[in-house]
Amino acid sequence: MASTPFELTGKTVFVAGHKGMVGAALVRRLARENVELLTVGRNEVDLRDQAAVFGWFAKKRPQAVFLAAAKVGGIVANNTLRGEFLYDNLVIAANVIQAAHTNATQKLMFLGSSCIYPRLAPQPLREDSMLTGPLEPTNEPYAIAKIAGIKMVEAYRSQYGSDFINVMPTNLYGPGDNYHPEYSHVVAALIRRFHEAKVSGASNVVVWGTGTPRREFLYVDDLADACIHLMKSYSSDELVNIGTGEDITIAEFARVVAAAVGYTGGISFNPSRPDGTPRKLLDVSRLAKLGWRASTSLKDGIGLAYQAYLRDSK
Ligand SMILES: NC(=O)c1ccc[n+]([C@@H]2O[C@H](COP(=O)([O-])OP(=O)(O)OC[C@H]3O[C@@H](n4cnc5c(N)ncnc54)[C@H](OP(=O)(O)O)[C@@H]3O)[C@@H](O)[C@H]2O)c1
Repeated sequence: MASTPFELTGKTVFVAGHKGMVGAALVRRLARENVELLTVGRNEVDLRDQAAVFGWFAKKRPQAVFLAAAKVGGIVANNTLRGEFLYDNLVIAANVIQAAHTNATQKLMFLGSSCIYPRLAPQPLREDSMLTGPLEPTNEPYAIAKIAGIKMVEAYRSQYGSDFINVMPTNLYGPGDNYHPEYSHVVAALIRRFHEAKVSGASNVVVWGTGTPRREFLYVDDLADACIHLMKSYSSDELVNIGTGEDITIAEFARVVAAAVGYTGGISFNPSRPDGTPRKLLDVSRLAKLGWRASTSLKDGIGLAYQAYLRDSK
């Protein structure tokens, strides 16, 4: 089954979801490895389309796969588009993992999410807390689909000896984030709102929720680096959390973003908007033992993300 270290050099490597925030960061990071990169747009292969996925894999036979394609969004998108989040993510995972298996892909990494852990699991969240309690209701469909993908990876390792692995990133931000006014994650939403307030000269910005939930944020290029590190060096059926190991309240975080953007007005909170899980911090001790830690500070990362936002919105 597993051969660690796994040699990426000279391999054909498929990044599923290469236009997304994570996929694009993986593509940037893989440019430093000597690999033949394979990508395919949704217009050519919709990953929900089993025949299209199986046909593309049979033709390209990628030797390594990063499964970073998914239907992703913030709390409102997750809670509103519940059917789409469940269906798309289940089917994308099922199609790509099965296609990798039948086409002898040597190694596959499935990207899950910290949302798969129970809402009230002890913090920081350890990998073995998966399936120990009820999920956060607002993102349950997404989490259930991700858990199914994780279980497929585990089952294919056990039944077929596939060298497939699962990683659980924390909240991510950086170039290529989604700035949709309703459906974005908190980092992109705040960058956008503070920027617009700065430009319009608004005296106050309203942040959704109470400001008290604690969250952890990882710069997406750090995530990509961790993924390459684990792809080369890790093979086990145990999940690996990827995060910084540090969290911050949304209220404090809003001040970091405002400072990076150069917004100097007031900040208030709207408690009628949902808070989601009270705290979400990953236990990253397994990752640290595997020899990786994040290198981009929150202040630097938010500064870089804001520069990317300015470039993208031109
Ligand atoms: N963002 C986070 O904070 C975060 C946190 C933890 C884990 N993750 C995980 O990281 C992975 C990537 O997330 P992301 O933030 O990069 O999301 P993203 O920016 O929305 O990118 C998702 C990518 O998946 C592609 N995709 C979605 N549905 C598809 C379909 N039916 N057929 C083909 N391609 C499809 C999208 O293609 P189009 O460009 O054509 O739409 C896009 O390239 C996901 O597995 C997510 O669960 C993300």
